[in-house]
Amino acid sequence: MTERKAQLTVEGHDKPIDLPIYPGTLGPDVVDVRGLIKSGFLTYDPGFMSTASCESDITYINGGEGVLLYRGYPIEQLAEHSSFLETCYLLLHGELPSAGERLEFENTIRYHTMVDQGVHRFFNGFPRNAHPMSMLVSVVGALSAFYHDELDISDPTQRTLVAQRIIGKMPTLAAMCYKHGIGQPFMYPRNALSFPENFLHMMFGTPCEENAVSPVLARAIDLIFLLHADHEQNASTSTVRLAGSTGANPYSCFAAGVAALWGPAHGGANEAVLKMLGEIGTESRIDEFIRRAKDPNDPYRLMGFGHRVYKNFDPRAKVMREVCNDVLEDVGEAADNDLFRIARRLEQIALEDDYFINRKLYPNVDFYSGIILKALGIPTSMFTVIFAMGRTPGWMAHWDEMVGGAYRIGRPRQLYRGPGMRDYPVK
Ligand code: CMC
Repeated sequence: MTERKAQLTVEGHDKPIDLPIYPGTLGPDVVDVRGLIKSGFLTYDPGFMSTASCESDITYINGGEGVLLYRGYPIEQLAEHSSFLETCYLLLHGELPSAGERLEFENTIRYHTMVDQGVHRFFNGFPRNAHPMSMLVSVVGALSAFYHDELDISDPTQRTLVAQRIIGKMPTLAAMCYKHGIGQPFMYPRNALSFPENFLHMMFGTPCEENAVSPVLARAIDLIFLLHADHEQNASTSTVRLAGSTGANPYSCFAAGVAALWGPAHGGANEAVLKMLGEIGTESRIDEFIRRAKDPNDPYRLMGFGHRVYKNFDPRAKVMREVCNDVLEDVGEAADNDLFRIARRLEQIALEDDYFINRKLYPNVDFYSGIILKALGIPTSMFTVIFAMGRTPGWMAHWDEMVGGAYRIGRPRQLYRGPGMRDYPVK
């Protein structure tokens, strides 16, 4: 087969520059611009609007049509038939597990839920009112200190062990961040429980009494994890890849991913949604906030609306919207309160208002996950932590894919606009 080529014609340059084109299994063809530097040019793409930073087999998104596939499986089907842990297996191994493989994987993850007692002592140094994400960034990075003999990233067995450890320990660390903030003792994991039940046990249980975990609640949380499990080259995953491309140890790379996720334009949006709903306060103030969001001279944005890739309803948001309705129905009384009424009204306005329609600004996954988590009694400051727990297998799968293949250090270039060379003024 002849290789397709793009030709770049540049004014003042004698011949066109040939650039190879590669087809993907799905999605747009990709023009390989790596050779461009030899002709003295760089490409310019701040925000990576048109740049494929790597080759990947893991996740596919068609933002225009609202499609999200993990290893080829539509997210809606996984949400209906799979579980978070099975989805972790799928992301990491490329295929769904057999019944035996699934059981073995679940047991292995259980075996890795405890953290070293030394990690407990880290929390003594954090102020009581520290944001849970600030603690999570630190303790995830600190895990490398406990496993320094098993950080050979060229060894696939050690990489598998890293995956089992990080997926198993994230709920334990996340619950510790919460318990520290409210001054309650840390709860040890209970390995007889399922993954989501165990997390809820460590969050809401106390040593004084058994905490019965509602299966409805456990399924809702599991679904939130599953829907967040991967999202191709998003900001935090790209951060993990970039950090990993230097050969840094995986726990430091995941800590970098947690840090990137924290921003309100990324994983921090679910927390920002609740803050926004609180700020709006009553239905009568909604119009004022909509006006601000639409004003080109006001930087204010409605949190939980819009997405870089989805210019259609985010398929995760569709599933989440249904879960949100079920959960609100289930919690009954809470569904009547102002916050949820404001959320429903905002959703309605955004779906009907020309500003949002023309810009294809649909409610995103964080709009609904924030509302669900609030209804489930999860404190707002923990929302992004929950997102981080969900995204862990995605970070892991991408890091493993990169480190397990041929890769180079990620080193972007720039369009320099500073002063030209000048002499230091000697006095
Ligand atoms: N409210 C009001 N206007 C908006 C919003 C919003 N939430 N988002 C985008 N716009 C407008 C923006 O002002 C621009 O208008 P104009 O064309 O008139 O200048 C137009 O829509 C395009 O916006 P953009 O900045 O080019 O879009 P982007 O792809 O760079 O940004 C985004 C995507 C998600 C950062 C942005 O929509 C946003 O800030 N949303 C609110 C934060 C949020 O909910 N983030 C969670 C994303 S989902 C979780 C994840 O995957 O990380």
